[in-house]
Amino acid sequence: MKFFVDTAEIDAIAELHDLGMVDGVTTNPSLIMKSGRDILEVTKEICDLVDGPVSAEVVSLEADDMIAEGRKLAKIADNIAVKVPLTWAGLKTCKILSDEGHMVNVTLCFSANQALLAAKSGATFISPFIGRLDDINIDGMELIADIRDIYDNYGFETQILAASIRTVNHISDAAKIGADVITAPPGVIKKLADHPLTDAGLAAFMKDWAKTGQKIL
Ligand code: G3P
Repeated sequence: MKFFVDTAEIDAIAELHDLGMVDGVTTNPSLIMKSGRDILEVTKEICDLVDGPVSAEVVSLEADDMIAEGRKLAKIADNIAVKVPLTWAGLKTCKILSDEGHMVNVTLCFSANQALLAAKSGATFISPFIGRLDDINIDGMELIADIRDIYDNYGFETQILAASIRTVNHISDAAKIGADVITAPPGVIKKLADHPLTDAGLAAFMKDWAKTGQKIL
């Protein structure tokens, strides 16, 4: 499973990148707003840091404008994945840009039928939003499972990029189902290493080690 980091904060990306945990990055207009940075500048910096796909999202609602924005974003670097919303205009943009050889991430997916359309329009990634479905009492993980079944039934190569990840359980559940990628905030990825029994075990080892009076270095 690939790990993408869902942020436009360079320091947070760099910290996880140094640990080998970053296979790609996803951004969206809200994350660009939170970073306080210019979209073209910060996206270029992220692309310089990370080898894998870096999603940068268009903000127009009409296909012609989306296509123009997507082409401009794609010029930032070879590893840009143009992110488009799951609307008919977004799907048209996806088809045109993917035919031109660009990676496209179709975002704001909330149903299996939407995911089917994205695959047919040539999307590189489909981004189902797990947490936002859970927010309205619909099981986001069931959507990931349905998309996995549908894509496998027909051999679609579009990668399932589980997004709107809020908890560490979302990550292990998505991995069990076979999502190709998760994108999660840096804080959630860092929590994957936490376990109270690890902390308790380490504390006990340190206590006993102190009693030996020994040093390794
Ligand atoms: O990349 C978009 C997605 O991950 C958003 O997550 O937590 O705002 O629903 P969230």
